[in-house]
Amino acid sequence: MFIVTKAASSPPDGRKPVVETTVFQTPYLAAGDAVRRNLPCHQLQVVVSLTHRADRASKLRLVFVLALVASPPATALAQAERSTRVVDPECHQRKGDRHYPYRAWKDYILKELDLRPGDAVVDVGAGDGWWSEPMAEKVGKDGVVHAAEVDEKLVQKMRERFASAPQVRPYLCKADDTCLAERSCDLAFLSQSFHHLPKDRVNYLHRLRDVVKPTGRLAVIEKYAAADGSNPGHGTNLSMLSHEAEEAGWILVRYELMAGTGHYLAIFVQKDLFPRRLRL
Ligand SMILES: C[S@@+](CC[C@H](N)C(=O)[O-])C[C@H]1O[C@@H](n2cnc3c(N)ncnc32)[C@H](O)[C@@H]1O
Repeated sequence: MFIVTKAASSPPDGRKPVVETTVFQTPYLAAGDAVRRNLPCHQLQVVVSLTHRADRASKLRLVFVLALVASPPATALAQAERSTRVVDPECHQRKGDRHYPYRAWKDYILKELDLRPGDAVVDVGAGDGWWSEPMAEKVGKDGVVHAAEVDEKLVQKMRERFASAPQVRPYLCKADDTCLAERSCDLAFLSQSFHHLPKDRVNYLHRLRDVVKPTGRLAVIEKYAAADGSNPGHGTNLSMLSHEAEEAGWILVRYELMAGTGHYLAIFVQKDLFPRRLRL
């Protein structure tokens, strides 16, 4: 997201006005700026006040700035905001895709996952491989995305879809286990599949700790059941997820309710990374 602020001032000594242009490429800082001006966070504001005739370079910069602002934001990433202030009472109403509204936050989610070339990921409940595909691009040819699925037909479909992407490995997993080797993954990713796991989810999350390296992470996208009344069985409250994850030895390090989707992204790391009580 581009947010642009522009300020012009006319020095008292009669020199040409100074035109300052700042382009932020962060959705947070700039969204806060918009909120302070009492605007919905997705609206951009350009403050232009040329009190004197601007020089040619300033005019060109102004054209550039306006061109940026005129282009609509490509994804819902543009709506991400750090401020929790409710400026727009509609901001938490669900918009977009009925089944997968969080997919509009793809860029934000991938940024938060921060995958690197060579990483190994297990995409638990990969479905049709919608996430496996962009994750495979991030991990590159030296990485791997284990696309774990319990539905044989979906596994077959993914095999066809990823025939020319050998780093994506679709496979039929057990409902209660990914069956991957210990310490083989940098990330365990569950998008809308956590509520599908068998009853003993603590046990499942515990086993995932073995599969994930000590420095690896667990990322979960789920519908926030308490916040989204539609079909609450197809979601999990954050309190429930974090409680079960803690029981299994994971610590929540980041959480974001993706506004307008009714879904959240929660990222955990292994509890062993944290200091233990000193034995005196
Ligand atoms: C709602 S879909 C989500 C698909 C995909 N992750 C996404 O977000 O687009 C849930 C998927 O999880 C799979 N699933 C259900 N239980 C599972 C389990 N125990 N292990 C692995 N996959 C499972 C289902 O077959 C289904 O494809």
